[in-house]
Amino acid sequence: MNYQVVIPAAGSGKRMNAGKNKQFIKLQSIPVIIHTLKVFEQDHLCTGIILVINKDEQQEFESLLNEYQLQKVIALVHGGSERQHSVYNGLQEVTNATIVLVHDGARPFLKIDLIHKLVNAAEAQGAAILAVPVKDTIKRASSDLIVNETVERSGLWAVQTPQAFHVSILKEAHELARQNDYLGTDEASLVERIPKNVTIVEGDYLNIKLTTQDDLLFAEAILQKWTT
Ligand code: CTP
Ligand code: MG
Repeated sequence: MNYQVVIPAAGSGKRMNAGKNKQFIKLQSIPVIIHTLKVFEQDHLCTGIILVINKDEQQEFESLLNEYQLQKVIALVHGGSERQHSVYNGLQEVTNATIVLVHDGARPFLKIDLIHKLVNAAEAQGAAILAVPVKDTIKRASSDLIVNETVERSGLWAVQTPQAFHVSILKEAHELARQNDYLGTDEASLVERIPKNVTIVEGDYLNIKLTTQDDLLFAEAILQKWTT
């Protein structure tokens, strides 16, 4: 089934500490955001991309879209102070779609077959997210770094994007969160509060989000593996 995707790219990338929005960092000479957008350009099920950007970076984004001849970006929307606000603004521009995906601009290594699995799950069940089983042992600690407990690992998932929804469900979830001043770290957490079930589709450990400088080392390694 066809879908539209909202891509939040309006952050400032503080933890990356690159002196600019991490979307513009180049990997093998191509900016991160272009790597991400190209995945959806190449997916025939994607009928439109809504790109959420910082107002002050509009010219830079526009010239990149031009330079790389991207065809599917149907709207450039200005972001808000938090990621959730940026996604909300993007969501207002979704038209002519039953399924909407939300995918971080800073997550460039997404495979199209996973998008399709996710879209099928969302179509059938209303809400679906990509996630991978947690590999580390997880402990909860108090502020003085004394361990309180070891959290049972089975059943723990590290959640990624994209996350996919019936448009009406995600809009309802966002409106409810707004009314209650709830700020979540992903879209699914808003949907869980409706409440509605969210289905997990097992993702790929290489679908990393670029958050800190260390992640750039992994990013270069992934690209090198894929291109040689
Ligand atoms: N994002 C956004 N609007 C915001 C904050 C984040 O559109 N107000 C986007 C980012 O551009 C990124 C995605 O949401 O593509 C995931 O957020 P994150 O990894 O936290 O990126 P930043 O907020 O830019 O980084 P940091 O938290 O380190 O400042
Ligand atoms: Mg952030």
